[in-house]
Amino acid sequence: MGEQSGGRSSIFPMPVRAGNDYFYPMFILGIETSCDETSASVIKDDLTVLSNIIHSQIEHSRFGGVVPEIASREHSLKIESVVSAALEKAGIRKEEIGLVAATNAPGLIGALLVGLSFAKGLAYSLNIPFVAVNHMDAHVKANFLSYPKLKPPFVVLLVSGGHTLLLHCRENKYELLGRTIDDAAGEALDKAGKMMGIAYPAGREIERISKGGNPDAFPFPRALPEKANLNFSFSGLKTALRNQLYKMSKEEIETRKADLLASYQEAVVDALAKKSALALKKTRCRSLLLSGGVACNGRLRERLKLLLGEKNQLYFPSLEYCTDNGAMIAAAGLMKYKQHGADPLNVGASAVFNLTEVNDGL
Ligand code: KG4
Ligand code: ZN
Repeated sequence: MGEQSGGRSSIFPMPVRAGNDYFYPMFILGIETSCDETSASVIKDDLTVLSNIIHSQIEHSRFGGVVPEIASREHSLKIESVVSAALEKAGIRKEEIGLVAATNAPGLIGALLVGLSFAKGLAYSLNIPFVAVNHMDAHVKANFLSYPKLKPPFVVLLVSGGHTLLLHCRENKYELLGRTIDDAAGEALDKAGKMMGIAYPAGREIERISKGGNPDAFPFPRALPEKANLNFSFSGLKTALRNQLYKMSKEEIETRKADLLASYQEAVVDALAKKSALALKKTRCRSLLLSGGVACNGRLRERLKLLLGEKNQLYFPSLEYCTDNGAMIAAAGLMKYKQHGADPLNVGASAVFNLTEVNDGL
């Protein structure tokens, strides 16, 4: 990569100052390949989404979870056509892209590398800036696609398949308030789905079936109820469901399926909603941002609205920007570029989530 792989912002253009205004790229391409969605999106610099193409890999469902090798291979096969479709839907040529953003962490390494390498190659060939985006930061920034004028301070409840985090965001820096000490909320739902024969990822189907059930039918446990604690734990809940299923016949499980799932979903939602309300109280913050795949859940949104009351404001992205998508990567990429400038092309991928790196724009 020669001279382009040097230090931050080496030869890439920084925002240009003209009078009192900064000029940024007009079109931003966002690429997401951290797990089992190959996605590309073109947004404008006012955060208007022009296209958001998502290819969800169905190949994993029969394994009950994502198989890393299959994910990498599918991303490699689809990345070019997904990016082309995003450009076509947006009605632009690749030469009109002003900034390329791609997820580089956290996620499956092999999967991340596909999107990251593709994005770097595109940026290099077009001689335009490239920005590496943290997937969790992007989930938060998905809210800005619906509310472009949103400003910190706010508390974030980030609930995805791999992470459950409560964050306090002040002046564009995140502080960790709480996290799961075992399974993530989405993972807890997906594992319950597996026990009950629901295809991966199970969250959406559990929500659908739960609508016909009684959330109080089974008294599933709520972990870490102490008020001082903003962490979550869902592994005991998972065990409680397994123990309950052992006590029931196949027929009984089938007839009580809606009650079982509604009660299980309620236990997850209850923990998330109560700790979020507590986080607002502790931080004296008035705004809660919901994000990540589990933020699609209608029951969670409903419970949070009730619990937060009129005094607090609840924000959530529209459904298509809750689960993994390229538009949130483009939005987070643009915001990072405005704050920290471009990244060098030797930025690597990482499987782990590191909040300090997000705060430092690394
Ligand atoms: O954010 P995401 O798309 O991927 C990760 O970054 O992990 O989140 C995926 C998770 C899965 O666990 C899935 O079951 C869950 O989001 N999910 C839902 C719903 N839709 C997706 N959970 C509850 N209710 C839903 N409607
Ligand atoms: Zn995600």
